[in-house]
Parts: sequence; C-alpha cells; structure tokens
Amino acid sequence: HQSRRPDYSELYELMTRASDYYQEQLKAAPDAPRVVNYLKQRGLDGQTCKQFGIGFAPRGWSNLQNLLATSDEKEEQLVKTGMLVENEENQNRYDRFRDRVMFPIRDSRGRIIAFGGRVLGDAKPKYLNSPESPIFHKGRELYGLYEAKKSNRSLERILVVEGYMDVVALAQLGITNAVATLGTATTLEHMQRLFKTVPEVVFCFDGDDAGRRAAWRALESTLPNMQDGRQARFLFLPQGEDPDSMVRQEGSEQFLQRIQDQALSLDTFLFKELEDGLDLHTMDGRARLTKLAQPYLSKLPDGIFKQLLLQKLSELTGLDSSRLEAHLNTETEQKT
Ligand code: CTP
Ligand code: MN
Ligand code: MN
Ligand code: MN
Ligand code: MN
Repeated sequence: HQSRRPDYSELYELMTRASDYYQEQLKAAPDAPRVVNYLKQRGLDGQTCKQFGIGFAPRGWSNLQNLLATSDEKEEQLVKTGMLVENEENQNRYDRFRDRVMFPIRDSRGRIIAFGGRVLGDAKPKYLNSPESPIFHKGRELYGLYEAKKSNRSLERILVVEGYMDVVALAQLGITNAVATLGTATTLEHMQRLFKTVPEVVFCFDGDDAGRRAAWRALESTLPNMQDGRQARFLFLPQGEDPDSMVRQEGSEQFLQRIQDQALSLDTFLFKELEDGLDLHTMDGRARLTKLAQPYLSKLPDGIFKQLLLQKLSELTGLDSSRLEAHLNTETEQKT
C-alpha cells in the first residue's frame, strides 16, 4: 500500500477539461473580444496562443464549478487541484480563477498540472497561480519546457526567464527555447532537470532588483550542477526591461546577439559579485575574497571547471592554487 503510487489520472483529466473550457471562452465569453484584443496588443497571434493553450477564465464565482463539479467526488478533486477555493468559515467553494487570461502549466509529459492567471488590467495581484497540489510542485516544474521540447527537434541550450509572458513572447518571435521558473527561485531540481536536457543554460531575468537577486539564487543552484561540459551564462537586461519587452523592442536577431555579446559566464558573474566593494590591492581585501569565495567553490563538483575557478581565484589573490585548494578543503572539513 505504501509503495503503490497514488492514481491522479482523474485530477489530470479535470485540468485538461478546465483548460479546454478556458480556451473555448476565448471565443464564447461575452468578454472574448476584450481578451483577444489584449492578447493581440501583447503581440501574440492565434497560433502562439493555441500552442501554449492560452485561454480565458470568465467573470463569475462558479463557472468552472458548475461545469466540472458534477459529483461530490469531482468537487473534492477540484479543491485538491486548487481550481476551487474553499472558504474556511462556511466551507463554500468557488472558482479560484476569475476574469483572467489563463496559462496552463504542463509537466514534462505534457499533462496540465496547474494554471497561471493574469488580470487584463492593472488589478492586483497581477498573476495568480495554482497552489501546490498532489500533481503540482513548484520547485520542480518549468513553464514552457514541454513546449520547447516539442518545437525543437534537438535542443542545445535553454533560456531561463521569469514569466509566462516572457516565454510566450519569445516563442512568438521565433525563440522557442525559453522556460520560466514561475515566480519562484531557481532550485537545484530545476537545474538538474535543465542540464539533463541541454548542456547550456542562459539565465535572463528582469532588469530590476528582483531579477538580479533571482540571478544570484540561480547561480547558487547551478554550482552543484556544474559538471565539466556544462555551461551557464547570465544576461542582465537594461533597467526596467524584461525578455518580453526587450525582444519585442529589438527583435529576435538583436536579442540573440545580445546574449552572444553580453551574457556573463558563471565565473565572471561570481567574481564580479564577490569582488564588489573589495580592494584587491590590499592583503585583507584578497583574504576577504578568499573567504567569501570558499562556500561557493566548495559547492562545485570536482573537475576541471573547479580547478579553473581555483586558478582564477589564485590569480586574483596571488595565492598558490594548490595552497588555496588545501585551505578550502580544511575549511570545509571544519564545517562538516
Ligand atoms: N508572478 C507571480 N505573482 C505575481 C507576480 C509575478 O506569480 N504577483 C510570477 C509570474 O510567473 C510572472 C513572473 O513572476 O510571470 C514575473 O513577474 P513580473 O515580472 O512581475 O511579471 P511579467 O511577466 O513581466 O508580467 P507582465 O509582462 O504580464 O506585466
Ligand atoms: Mn520583474
Ligand atoms: Mn517581468
Ligand atoms: Mn513583462
Ligand atoms: Mn553587487
């Protein structure tokens, strides 16, 4: 009994039916013209919307409930997936997603496991996402990965961006290898999954403070996954831009050129951040850099890349690199 995998097929089926309903509403809802207009205004054509299964959840508290909660059991399942929200005081249930553009989130097998919903205007919250559920684990899933694999015979590299609209806008302009982390930090699991798929990952988060913090978190999750042969790069966009706004402004060729010219290698980004505010002309500056670098270097798997990073640190500090390595190893042992 413990070892038997629970059967979630009915949950997946409900998610598919919900998605079908939302997609139909792009035509059928009284608000459909307003929604289609919004999508057009964001540069998306019908084919791209179809490819990503974009839909619309109309206004009203019980559209989905009336359609899909055909038995008590079904209603419980809808609560489990987060499609219905339960009022804690009176146990009333109602549709989570109302008056929102809907982005279905698929797992690697293409099954719909969650949704993100965006308001059409400026209301808050701008995005609403499905909660964690038996079929949806945020730290594991990457929006757009299934679609990227489907539209590329062979993938060599993947772009990691923050948002649904970034993935979809890039695809609209022919850049079909972007995935999004769904407003959560990039996890070790994300990186494991990405590097199982491609040897090269380029992070391209928003040009704002949140985006820069996200890049650092991504670096931390990347380090333990940096086996030799793998490559990670970091593109920093101008203040206020995100991949969606950027690619629509400059076009996909320029955007790809930007990656080529401006994306920082992992070592460049790492040392740029660690050196920030340090004076490497001084001994205490160089000692401080060594100390700051230690926890990051010790996360790296053994290999040539680690050796090269040690060598770089040795060049920056003037310390012999085998000395450095011995020092880092003793530091690490003391901690464990
Ligand atoms: N996000 C979220 N909840 C929010 C805001 C953001 O879950 N209240 C997640 C969404 O996955 C969103 C991503 O973080 O796609 C990036 O957020 P942000 O940059 O604020 O949104 P954009 O995608 O740029 O939004 P848009 O272009 O549609 O205005
Ligand atoms: Mn942002
Ligand atoms: Mn953004
Ligand atoms: Mn945006
Ligand atoms: Mn800094």
